[in-house]
Amino acid sequence: MAEKITNEFLLEQAGEYGTPLYVYHGEKIKEQYEKLSSAFSALDTKFFYASKALTNINILRYIKNLGCNVDCSSSNEVKLALHAGFEPERVLYTSNGISFAEIEEAAAAGVHINIDSLSNLEKFGKKYGHTYPVGIRIRPNIMAGGNIKISTGHNTSKFGIPVHQIEDIERLMKETNICIHALHIHTGSDIKDPDIFVKGIEVLFELIPHFPDLKVIDLGGGFKVPYKPGEDEVNMPLLARRIKETFVSDFQTQNRNLSLWFEPGKFLVSECGYLLATVTVLKDTGEITFAAVNSGLNHLIRPMMYDAYHHLENISNPKGVKKNYWVTGNICETDNFAAGRTLNEIREGDILAIYNGGAYGFEMASNYNSRYKPAEVLVENGIARLIRRRDNFEDLIRNQAELI
Ligand code: LLP
Repeated sequence: MAEKITNEFLLEQAGEYGTPLYVYHGEKIKEQYEKLSSAFSALDTKFFYASKALTNINILRYIKNLGCNVDCSSSNEVKLALHAGFEPERVLYTSNGISFAEIEEAAAAGVHINIDSLSNLEKFGKKYGHTYPVGIRIRPNIMAGGNIKISTGHNTSKFGIPVHQIEDIERLMKETNICIHALHIHTGSDIKDPDIFVKGIEVLFELIPHFPDLKVIDLGGGFKVPYKPGEDEVNMPLLARRIKETFVSDFQTQNRNLSLWFEPGKFLVSECGYLLATVTVLKDTGEITFAAVNSGLNHLIRPMMYDAYHHLENISNPKGVKKNYWVTGNICETDNFAAGRTLNEIREGDILAIYNGGAYGFEMASNYNSRYKPAEVLVENGIARLIRRRDNFEDLIRNQAELI
């Protein structure tokens, strides 16, 4: 197990680099990757890190050096992955709603591609025929995931080609001779129940006889990680066992030699990250004590966007008496990090650590209210290094044309 980063260490980083600051713990990523790879060691499995969770180039390289591959959701993520040194065969582009030109760009780079519409499938087939094996994203009509905003496989989801359109896929295969080598699903994020993955495999196995060139079943990502203290993550050994049972039995009946791919995002990087923020103002209204910090939904949007729970600690006063606080940002909107949370007594100037900051934290950050995005620090073997400097005023105006 990776040794936990201590509060003292986090405080040192806040002192060294200032706040707001994202701190990522490399060994935690490694620990998570090892959990995955050991759980699935008995199957022919490949993992593609869903880089949309956190694309800092140093994180990409760290993950590459672990032996993991990378999944991308835009052509720029593909470029970042290649820039980070991933060979094209280790890069997967799971596209949705994109122009065909972007797919052509990915094909020119030689990366694996999952296509999610009949429209692009037809264009791809017409251009590449049997020369470029491609995957298709299927919408399995399964409801899964922590909440509706991060649920992507249900029957009103925009993602994938609905499973009932199999005849249209077959028609395109005949017309264009397209080579479909992978069937992909991703049903949502924060999934704890192994049966969701089993259900997904069952939907895909029904389709297998239609795909003579099939080599890969790609089950996407979505493994749940704990956000609250004491909460469980997905039971990975159990999940792997259930998937293996289903996979092997169905595979044997069909006598097909298939690899299994996954695209974990949160599972690899959520828990490695901490957002450190300084308390700027304490406001006691009689009913509520607000603790405002020098960060907000511009740096971590998950609490406001998904009502997500992020554990918080006052690392400057670990022995302080417990009191109830609303921790808010400084953005000119309601931006609670926590509404009604018991924390060690907070004083202005204290540093709060917000947990689970690795996945969809910095990556979804913005310059709203013309505030700077935070700096990022990566910790490896107890040594912290700056992997992105904080924005500065130049960054805010760089792309603007000053015409008036
Ligand atoms: N593969 C595909 C095709 C995906 O769309 C996603 C996430 C993943 C893999 C990785 O899912 P993960 O293992 O990270 O759950 N911003 C939201 C999550 C959105 C996920 C979008 N797709 C959040 O902060 O909860």
